[in-house]
Order: sequence, then C-alpha cells, then structure tokens
Amino acid sequence: MKVGVIGCGNIADIYFHNAKNFFNNFEIIACADLNPDASKKYSEKYSIKNLSVEELLSNEDIQLVINLTIPNAHFEVSKSILNSGKHSYSEKPISIEFDEGKELLNLAKSKNLYVGSAPDTFLGAGIQKSKQIIEDGTIGEIVLGSISMGVAGHEIWHPNPDFYYKYGGGPILDMGPYYFSALVNLLGPVKSVYSQSRTVYSQREIGSGERKGEKIVVDIPTTLISQIEFSNGALIDSFFSFDVYKHNKSHIELFGTKGAINVPDPNMFGGEIKICDEKKSDWKTIKTDDMNLGRLNTNRTGGEKNDKANEDPTSANFRGIGVCEMIDSIKENKVNRCSGELSLHVLEIMQSILKSAKIDEKVNLESVTNIPQSFLDTENGKFLK
Ligand SMILES: NC(=O)c1ccc[n+]([C@@H]2O[C@H](COP(=O)([O-])OP(=O)(O)OC[C@H]3O[C@@H](n4cnc5c(N)ncnc54)[C@H](O)[C@@H]3O)[C@@H](O)[C@H]2O)c1
Repeated sequence: MKVGVIGCGNIADIYFHNAKNFFNNFEIIACADLNPDASKKYSEKYSIKNLSVEELLSNEDIQLVINLTIPNAHFEVSKSILNSGKHSYSEKPISIEFDEGKELLNLAKSKNLYVGSAPDTFLGAGIQKSKQIIEDGTIGEIVLGSISMGVAGHEIWHPNPDFYYKYGGGPILDMGPYYFSALVNLLGPVKSVYSQSRTVYSQREIGSGERKGEKIVVDIPTTLISQIEFSNGALIDSFFSFDVYKHNKSHIELFGTKGAINVPDPNMFGGEIKICDEKKSDWKTIKTDDMNLGRLNTNRTGGEKNDKANEDPTSANFRGIGVCEMIDSIKENKVNRCSGELSLHVLEIMQSILKSAKIDEKVNLESVTNIPQSFLDTENGKFLK
C-alpha cells in the first residue's frame, strides 16, 4: 500500500526508517508538515515527495496516512485524512478529547475506512510473551498490580517540548497510552479510576536544541497517582510523573493467585520478563530477544540524535508494525489490533484519571473494548523483510 506521512518532527524518523528497512507491505511515498523545512529534511533523507498537507491529502496513489503531528492536532488531521477518503493511523493518543475520538470512529465507520492509533509497542515481544504467560495460567488469576512511569521531564532532550506541559500533554496523556494499552491487552477493560495530582514545578527549562535555556510555563498536573479497577476485578496502583529524578520502581508488576510477573517497559518492543511461580522463590528471567519483535534493531535505525526512543541501544523498536498490521486487516476485512476502539478506551482511562484528580471523586468509565488477539511470530513474521 502507498502511504503518506503528515507531521515530520522528532518521532517521524523511526517510521521512515522502519518502513524502508524492516516492513514489506507498505511504502511511504510522500510527507507533509505545516513547516515545509521539516518535511523537506525527511523527503531528502528518504528520497520521497515533499508535499503540502492539501497536496498529500488529494494524492490519489496514497491510500493511508500516518499522522505524526502533536497530540492536540491529532483529531483535526485524522479527520481531514478520513474526509479525503484515506485510512488514518495516528501517533498516540488518538485525540485529546473522548468525544472527538468517538467522532473519528463514527466518521471512519460511515466511510468504510479504518482508523488506527499508536502505540503498537504492545504488539512487541515483551507484552505478547507476557500475555501468553498470563493466559497459560502460570501465575494464576491476576488480582493486583502496580505500574510506574517516572522521568525528570522530556524538556531535557526534546528540542520543542512545549506540548508536554500544555493542555493535552502531561505524563498521563504522553506515556499512559503505552501502559494502558498493554494492561488492557493483559487484563481487559477498565471499570473505574480514582486519582490525585500535583504540579511540582511551575516552569521548565528547555535543555537542548536551538531554544536551549528558554523557559516553558507549566499549565497542567505533572504527577498523577491513581487506583485503577479493571472489569475483571483486578486492582492496580498507578504512578505517572514528570517530577522524578530517578527511581527503582518497575514499569508493570502484576500479582496473581499463583505468582507474580514483572512485565518489560511497554514503551519498547522487547525486554526481559521476570516471573515468580512459587512462594519465596527468586525471579526467573524470560528473554524475548529471540522473538521477531524482540530482537535488538535500534543500533541499525540511524535515528535522529535527539530521539530518545531511537537511541536506546538496549531494546527493540519496531514502531510502525501497527501500520503493517492495519493494512493486513484492511485486506483481510478484520478488526485491526491497534484499533480505534482500543485507543478510545485508553483515552477514556486517561481522561478519567485527569478528571478524577480534578473533582476528587471516583470516575466510572462508559466505553469498553475487546482484548486484541495475540500477535505471535507465526503471524508477524510475514510483515518483516
Ligand atoms: N518524540 C518521541 O520520542 C515520541 C515517541 C513516541 C510517540 N511520540 C508521539 O508522536 C507525536 C509527535 O511527536 P514529536 O516528538 O515527533 O513532535 P514534534 O513536535 O517533534 O513534531 C510534530 C510535527 O508535526 C507538525 N505539525 C503540527 N501540527 C500540524 C498540523 N496541523 N499539520 C501538519 N503538521 C503539523 C509540526 O510542525 C512538527 O514538525 C506526538 O503525538 C507524540 O506523543 C513521540
């Protein structure tokens, strides 16, 4: 399938790189950005067309557009993609407003088009292997858990980090999609949430790029601490913060009636899983780097120097596999795994966390979603070069 990209900033490089080097069922033929210099850079690097947004949307060869703009532009850009008769796959979150997310799903349905959204990291070996272990019953029924994401703030490395501290940014909308998409894959949908929040610093200083030293005013909560109740009864405590210098908390730890599992970073594709299936025993390590979407590929990305996700030499980065899977689902007429329904439910979890902190009350969710089917090497291998 011929594909276009709108939004040529920091994360775009890994999509261009992976499409060219790893994936075999789509080709990115053109890119566009509000800032023509941004799209020019990638069009030259990857020998593709540099178009205006309007030109890209009216290009008849392009059937699907990847929307890599900033979160508060996702809705408008995805809507214009669907209105131009093309399938839309956006970076996370699908939108910053639940009602707008719903509108996108309805629009796609009315036009017989697909809508998909990152993250696709849950299709990686780390989460898929964990899913298999949980479904095998090795650690019993998951009843409790704890999730944690704490960093000092993306302004340390991102040259234009303003959006992280404005409405639509913050640790939940930025990093929550990875954690909650992974958890819904492992445990099913969420029923209710209760949260409290803090904004520790009122200003942030840009740490890299041309604007280094410039201050950003913080408009939103930068730490959210929550209790999440899943429909299956599991209770999870959740910590998301841009106010933490360093910590030793695990990304995702789930406690079952027969053991415990430590799930790798849901922002990455691979990583080591740890399980304990006997009382008082040590963790047993399960590697995933022998699986298709767990093998280290980041050294080969040639990613931009300021892109943290591209640089991590310790984990796999197959961003864009969700696009491959969506294209295959379109051909096979089945529901894609990084679906509109899943991303809408994840958006509602995150919005409910923010709302609960604001009103200081428990919030019940209205949306539900099915657990996406497993995505194992027997299936994903066919998309890889
Ligand atoms: N940077 C990362 O490491 C990273 C990792 C994973 C996901 N993401 C997600 O990817 C998305 C983009 O992040 P980024 O870091 O690349 O941001 P960025 O600010 O570096 O790039 C965004 C680009 O989109 C363009 N843009 C904004 N509004 C537009 C519009 N209406 N039409 C056309 N172009 C428009 C901007 O000019 C800019 O070039 C975000 O949703 C972010 O959450 C980023």
